[in-house]
Amino acid sequence: MKIVYKSLDEIRQMRESALVVAGILDEVCRAVEPGVSTWELDRIARAAIKRESVVSAFLGYAQPPYPAVTCISINEEIVHGIPRKDKIIRSGDLVSVDFGSFKHGMCADSARTVIAGTATPEGQKLVDTTRRSLDLAIAQCVVDNRLEDVGAAVQGCAEAEGYSVVRVFVGHGIGRRMHEDPPVHNYGTPGRGKRIKRGLVIAVEPMVNAGSPEVEVLDDGWTAVTKDRSLSAHFEHTIAITDEGPWVLTRPSSSPGNPGHD
Ligand code: MF3
Ligand code: CO
Repeated sequence: MKIVYKSLDEIRQMRESALVVAGILDEVCRAVEPGVSTWELDRIARAAIKRESVVSAFLGYAQPPYPAVTCISINEEIVHGIPRKDKIIRSGDLVSVDFGSFKHGMCADSARTVIAGTATPEGQKLVDTTRRSLDLAIAQCVVDNRLEDVGAAVQGCAEAEGYSVVRVFVGHGIGRRMHEDPPVHNYGTPGRGKRIKRGLVIAVEPMVNAGSPEVEVLDDGWTAVTKDRSLSAHFEHTIAITDEGPWVLTRPSSSPGNPGHD
């Protein structure tokens, strides 16, 4: 297992792929509202994939083969929720949408949690904190920092609010494959881990639980839920490390060294 560092040309190709991912994720998230099924959200992504002539990174992935192009995870579902016709979104639900695809043979992967209808204060705070934890992690994605600086930023932010970070799922290197080395943990000790170098491209994806960090996988073989059934939120961006600083490829407003904003 070796890290594949990317040239600036390859990163520019990944940016193109990532902008498509950002657009499709936007489209799906805009459709989140009470009364809509998670299957309907997946259908929107399928239509967009066709229109954009990209290839799903999720469909058919792993064992048992993942059966959809999005993961839609509601409330106590952390990640890998399989879209279903009978899973209907209600007001106040935390809806985590995860989407990845290939363009020019390059993968990009991004996720965000949105709240359907009227947010509860608990839900809003968890979502805001998880989003902020990713922004703090992105700020650590600079040459000569260490990989655990990234996870430590997520962990510090989440735990300061009394939340916990999921440990059994991780972020990852990304490029010609969706999952490359290195794994990117959402916890760590500042100053430890591999040195971050120019050309590293990683998907950083904090999963933050309101309660305990324990995870259970449902009988469908995919859907991961919090063991205590507390709420969970998930944000993910694909980030390239350049000499100028982080370039958040799945964020349209970002440029090399400028993280931008969601
Ligand atoms: N974004 C997730 C990840 O990085 C989703 C992939 S799960 C899949 O692992 F099965 F749908 F591909
Ligand atoms: Co990912």
